[in-house]
Amino acid sequence: MSDIALQTRGLGVKYGTFHALAEVDLDIRRNSVHSIIGPNGAGKTTLFHALTGRVPASSGRVVLEGRDITQASDDDRVRLGIARSFQVTSLFANLSLRENLRLAAQGRTPWQALAPWRRAQSNRAALELADQVTERLELSAVSDRLAGELSHGQQRRLEVGMAMAARPRLILLDEPTSGMGIDDIDAMKTLIRDLAQDHTVLFIEHNMGIVMNISDTITVMRLGRKLVEGTPAVIREDPEVQRAYLGNMITGDIA
Ligand SMILES: Nc1ncnc2c1ncn2[C@@H]1O[C@H](COP(=O)(O)OP(=O)(O)OP(=O)(O)O)[C@@H](O)[C@H]1O
Ligand SMILES: [Mg+2]
Repeated sequence: MSDIALQTRGLGVKYGTFHALAEVDLDIRRNSVHSIIGPNGAGKTTLFHALTGRVPASSGRVVLEGRDITQASDDDRVRLGIARSFQVTSLFANLSLRENLRLAAQGRTPWQALAPWRRAQSNRAALELADQVTERLELSAVSDRLAGELSHGQQRRLEVGMAMAARPRLILLDEPTSGMGIDDIDAMKTLIRDLAQDHTVLFIEHNMGIVMNISDTITVMRLGRKLVEGTPAVIREDPEVQRAYLGNMITGDIA
């Protein structure tokens, strides 16, 4: 069996007549951390939208675990195992961290539809999973605290936890470290690396230190297209990448 979790071929997205994404071929290996980098407006978030089904592909196809999902709705893609890190605003501020995770864990099997005895069982399973995820997030000490009272860094980690609790195959993270301080960034870095044990991780990030540190593969995008792709060592040395995008930043940031 192929070790590719997600594949795109000739993927394109148009906003009106503007080609925000064009001819993108990706092969995302299972249980890898695959980073997407590139300057503002390169099409990174648009790529994620095309993978989650939020915007339709104008050309090409998306294949998840061998199954063509190009025409699948966003709900269907969630059911098939694509999760996107939730935004802070989608946390339930008035519920505890644990309750937030329990709800996310139940997202896949709506408990309303279950018989009462199944519901109790499903609740128990969801709580167990919520507690496991809390440990992975290293947030056990604050699991009863309201989500709205957590620090910014803890909330961002909880967002990743909400994605994990849905037990997806593929987790998409769009700049999960934005606005974070250094300590929180370290915790997020460890968490993302750890995620790849059980999931495949597709990761958009501007912080080159993290990208170089935790990626198995890096795809550099520019103007909606793939520029180059390779291991961190290859990307770091690539003259075209340095010229087009990273410049001095790369030596400055990871030295
Ligand atoms: N809904 C939209 N309608 C029209 N144009 C859009 C829309 N969303 C994005 N764009 C344009 O598509 C291009 C790619 O945007 P996108 O948000 O995918 O870039 P990005 O790589 O995620 O950038 P950033 O690093 O700033 O997040 C940009 O030129 C942007 O202005
Ligand atoms: Mg973006």
